Amino acid sequence: MNAQQPVPVTGRPGSVLHGVIALDGPSGTGKSTVSRSLAQRLGAGYLDTGAMYRAATLAVLRAGLAPDSPEAARLAAAADVRVGTDPGAPTVRLGEEDVAAEIRGAQVTGAVSAISAHPEVRDRLVVQQRGIIDGAGTGIVVEGRDIGTVVVPVAGLKIYLTASEEVRAARRDGQDRAAGRGADLAATLLAVQRRDTLDSGRAVSPLRPASDAVVVDTSELDVAAVLDRVIALAERRGLLAGQPDPSR
Ligand code: DC
Repeated sequence: MNAQQPVPVTGRPGSVLHGVIALDGPSGTGKSTVSRSLAQRLGAGYLDTGAMYRAATLAVLRAGLAPDSPEAARLAAAADVRVGTDPGAPTVRLGEEDVAAEIRGAQVTGAVSAISAHPEVRDRLVVQQRGIIDGAGTGIVVEGRDIGTVVVPVAGLKIYLTASEEVRAARRDGQDRAAGRGADLAATLLAVQRRDTLDSGRAVSPLRPASDAVVVDTSELDVAAVLDRVIALAERRGLLAGQPDPSR
């Protein structure tokens, strides 16, 4: 399906998601903003799988281990990562400790691709993610890199967000500035390119769209436009309560 074709309808007020919407794509495509807003609009849960890889990475950095070492893989796979699924207040903890702010820092961002490339880390976190999704009740929006390909291949709707490197770097830069983290656009562009290469080139679960994903280029779309498009697609798939399934 080509998402660039006009999608005529948007979800009616009060629509509730039944099932899983998988949102994959590289960083800076608006994935987190869209996923959270979507979950809030559709009365659904929200799972940020990137935050889980980031929290596991933080545990490794605190232990002073090299991210690409076997010891790091073991420690990350055993880390006590806890995430909440309320889209209004998503939480991420290492044990009892709230690490939501620390996992967004440059150190974690620079090391997370190496940690997420370890098969044993992925195996462990994918099992945990599936448990959270199974226990989520009626509907959940899940964002990551391998949700449509590996974590929930049967998701009712798979969206793959893209945007040009320049647009993505500019968005990341804006987020860093807004959060009070030092920002430098040229360095951010290089970091975005580096992370894309690592995430797309790894042997296990590389970043790529599922064969049945709807690809949406957000370079020229604002969040509201992306949301309208995704909600319309969910409605067409019959994933919204009370909506007829148009494929039947
Ligand atoms: O979405 P994010 O930038 O917070 O993700 C951080 C890193 O975690 C990203 O560089 C790749 C990795 N990741 C992954 O490998 N698989 C996922 N499902 C989510 C994130």
